[in-house]
Amino acid sequence: MNERLAFRTGLLRQLLVASAVASAACGDSGSGSGTGGGGGGGESAAGGGGESAAGGETAAGGGGESAAGGQGGAGGQGGAGGQMAAGGSNAGGQGGMAGAGGSSGSGMNDVERCFFGAPPCPPAAEAVNVFGSCTDQLELVTEWISGPTEVNGTCCYQVNVSAPNAGECAAIGRPFMVENQARVASLRTGDRRWEAAGLTPVVAGLTPELRAQLGREWAHDAAYEHASIASFGKLALELLVFGAPADLIERTHRAAADEIRHAQAGFALASSYLGQPVGPSTLPEAARLVLAGSLEELAAAAVREGCCGETLAALVADAQRDAASDPVVREVLTQIAAEEAEHAALSYSVVAWAIATGGESVRTAAHRAFIESAHNLEQACANAEQNGPVSQNETLRAHGRLSAQEALRERLRGMREVVAPAMAQLLGEAS
Ligand SMILES: [Fe+2]
Ligand SMILES: [Fe+2]
Repeated sequence: MNERLAFRTGLLRQLLVASAVASAACGDSGSGSGTGGGGGGGESAAGGGGESAAGGETAAGGGGESAAGGQGGAGGQGGAGGQMAAGGSNAGGQGGMAGAGGSSGSGMNDVERCFFGAPPCPPAAEAVNVFGSCTDQLELVTEWISGPTEVNGTCCYQVNVSAPNAGECAAIGRPFMVENQARVASLRTGDRRWEAAGLTPVVAGLTPELRAQLGREWAHDAAYEHASIASFGKLALELLVFGAPADLIERTHRAAADEIRHAQAGFALASSYLGQPVGPSTLPEAARLVLAGSLEELAAAAVREGCCGETLAALVADAQRDAASDPVVREVLTQIAAEEAEHAALSYSVVAWAIATGGESVRTAAHRAFIESAHNLEQACANAEQNGPVSQNETLRAHGRLSAQEALRERLRGMREVVAPAMAQLLGEAS
């Protein structure tokens, strides 16, 4: 528990420092990195922020625990709302809040969606127990109509889905968005090229069913890690388009290299559990990507994918590490959590630079994206709560797998206790 609190507090401090560094750079515009001055600013800001985070831990801890996503956590919810509202009034962005609900859009009915899984594919009525409720495009499956059809080692079903980017469904780390949908490579077995060497969890004593589930879930995560490489590639190009300083571009390329290692680690674990190699196939959607056309667009995406997405991914990875007892799994998750935290800090630096460069309209776009992300997550947690608690198999937890509900709860808590104060500093002090 102490380790978890230390990670959360340390992460918040990193994000506050990232925002403060950029604030100093802003006041100092044209001088380059501004690292020295920023360090000082970060120090004092982190002290204050850290304390309020610790307060939040007590207040929202109770609320978050009992609420499993919200209702009983009136204190926590009020706190987070206040933080977000504070950022909003600074940014003059109340309109963004009002518009947030509309972002969910409408879903699609009777479409085919495919899921990675070793045959035999389960019938449609049981598919949710095997594959969960989210598609690769981060849509929530609201109805499994018919299937399965087996296609190239995947199980395909006709389903009804929500609009993409449902709050219930999160990429692992930074998603690769093309045409407003998360994209991942499909997976194939028999391919060892993406396996990290020497990462072998203990599989003795696991039933074939548990091994299959662990393999599927780790392969699923590894596919998102693999997609993050493309996402950072896109960001690096966008930073060049808009004239970002060298250090941001260097950190972006380093992050892409981290994601290669995350993917390799994930595929190594998945292959061990499955008892056969698994890796990514092609990622054809990358050929259709469109770079951000404005700093506003760039900043909003950085908020959604990095400031929110990677911050919450770091916290979920740390929760997975905490649940895991397998030493190899713990080692992998320790590294992923630490590096996702750095990626999150990079996003705060990117947004602060974008605001310093583009001014009020960029700040408003960033604010709107924060509010929209928080709204979607709060909504998802409220929906999940209606389904009641879901207990997770302890063996799965020992191998680093949380239930969807646990992960959702971690993300909500992270949004309230880490993202909200970091956002307040970023929007309140940058420029
Ligand atoms: Fe990652
Ligand atoms: Fe990442």
